[in-house]
Amino acid sequence: MIKKGIILAGGLGTRMSPITKSVNKQLLPIYDKPLIYYSLSVLMLAGIKDILIIVNKGQINQFKKILIDGRNFGVKLQYKEQQKPNGLPEAFIIGEKFINNNNVALILGDNFFYAQSLTKTLKNATKLNKGAKVFLHPVKNPKLYGIATIKNKKIINLKEKPLITKSNLAVTGLYFFDKQVVKLSKTLKPSKRKELEIVDLLNKYRKKNALKAEFLGRGGAWLDAGSIDDYYDTTSFVSTIEKRQGFKIACLEEIALNNGWINKVVLNESIKFYGNCEYAKYLKNLL
Ligand code: TTP
Repeated sequence: MIKKGIILAGGLGTRMSPITKSVNKQLLPIYDKPLIYYSLSVLMLAGIKDILIIVNKGQINQFKKILIDGRNFGVKLQYKEQQKPNGLPEAFIIGEKFINNNNVALILGDNFFYAQSLTKTLKNATKLNKGAKVFLHPVKNPKLYGIATIKNKKIINLKEKPLITKSNLAVTGLYFFDKQVVKLSKTLKPSKRKELEIVDLLNKYRKKNALKAEFLGRGGAWLDAGSIDDYYDTTSFVSTIEKRQGFKIACLEEIALNNGWINKVVLNESIKFYGNCEYAKYLKNLL
């Protein structure tokens, strides 16, 4: 069972400059809550309570202001800084002590997932014992993503931003790894863009025949709020669903309550913490 998770919430957010010049992208709103709520909700739906959040140098306090130590959501949050965006696999080097020889999940702080039976699929992924597992989802423009080619549900090829490819299956920002991940990340060499590449790490697993694929399903949505257009598409997706259904996506307190991780006393604390806003009103209704 995977019980530990890392949220990688640093990065320069260059594509969203100037908005991201002074504010971390993951703290910007996606409709009615900060972007980081969505990735945190995915780990919580997977049943993961022990979580490390990696942020840019000097930004821990900004995140702590809203997430504190996770007690309001019934999880345990720790924070660490990444000195500069040296690539996704650096998360496992920074998080070595936290991982402490366990299997671990990684989610990118700007990724958004919404799918039928997502909780079931996520819980299933946490059963990973050996190897690595990635979530794949079809995209219209494969040139912009890490793309996997599969045969009989097995990944046979993995390429970052391929110019020519027959596959349209993008590797999303949610990964499950066995405990080898720290050791393997340390063997990676920076690429031409001077970053450690997640594709290189995944290829190490693939070459050992230890890379599995999971799918969100055709009705599922995966968005990464990395460019201005994707950012606003994600916001309008959330607002449309929430207004229509009356349920919130990624309400952390609601997930915690359903998981039996918090009680109504703790929920009341959150209501007081948020103050007079729509989000708090929604929480009041849960009482
Ligand atoms: P990217 O989209 O690769 O980078 P970015 O968010 O800084 O945006 P841009 O390309 O516009 O400059 O990163 C995906 C996510 O991973 C994002 O949430 C930031 C995070 N990240 C880190 O925390 N550290 C890193 O070293 C990298 C590469 C990304």
